[in-house]
Amino acid sequence: MNQAVNMNANHASHAPAYFSAWDIHSYYGESYIVQGVSMNVHEGEILALLGRNGAGKTSTLRSIARIGEPMVTHGEMWLDHQPLHEMNSHQAARAGVALVPEDRRIIQGLTVEENLKLAQIAPPRGWSIERIYELFPRLGERAKQEGTTLSGGEQQMLAIGRALARDIKLLLLDEPYEGLAPVIVHEIEKTLMEIRSLGITTIIVEQNAVAALKLADRAVILDMGQVVYDGLAKDVLDNEELRKEYLAI
Ligand SMILES: Nc1ncnc2c1ncn2[C@@H]1O[C@H](COP(=O)(O)OP(=O)(O)OP(=O)(O)O)[C@@H](O)[C@H]1O
Ligand SMILES: [Mg+2]
Repeated sequence: MNQAVNMNANHASHAPAYFSAWDIHSYYGESYIVQGVSMNVHEGEILALLGRNGAGKTSTLRSIARIGEPMVTHGEMWLDHQPLHEMNSHQAARAGVALVPEDRRIIQGLTVEENLKLAQIAPPRGWSIERIYELFPRLGERAKQEGTTLSGGEQQMLAIGRALARDIKLLLLDEPYEGLAPVIVHEIEKTLMEIRSLGITTIIVEQNAVAALKLADRAVILDMGQVVYDGLAKDVLDNEELRKEYLAI
């Protein structure tokens, strides 16, 4: 990590959090999955949310986005002074939460451009299509191609571009590097750094923990639905015990 990023992280740790979750508990039916998760993310920061398979990472992101499943039964979530815990998924989306799920959900039968335009139908609008193409030139080159025929990496770019087409405050990425070749991962990493430099706040869930930790300012590690680490991302990279126990790296 470069100097500027470290200074930014130090500075941000004294500022009030932009997104806060306090003691979140959620259930799929009778299954108690998210068991008292709290986290803070400062504006313009990237938080890596890590942990083994089944630790509750996706469930935590879905809880924040107010998807409904799992059902949040306790806790508060605030985004830029707005109470997400009182909202449904549509309200949370309007409040600026954008979840890019693992399967990317590119809409079949629509071109790249139509996928992006569809995201702009409901206000408030975010980035222009031209600006998204500047960030992802590959999408501009393939504007008229059907979205579902893009490569995995390009579909991930489209899914992120579609999130930016709305006016977002918190970007939630669930395993954005999954199934992608290292060179494409690197390309998406660069974009995420660029997005951060523009002040967008991001929570990234990744199995590729090393890549996520290199990108992130801070990290939260979950195990069995509970937070077992909350601190600087670079400290996780230096902590062999933590890496072995919870990340298998
Ligand atoms: N729809 C569901 N109904 C019941 N249990 C579920 C449901 N979805 C997930 N779970 C359970 O919740 C737990 C946490 O799952 P979750 O998907 O949040 O984990 P994760 O950390 O994202 O794992 P992975 O790294 O494999 O994606 C798991 O035990 C899983 O079986
Ligand atoms: Mg998951």
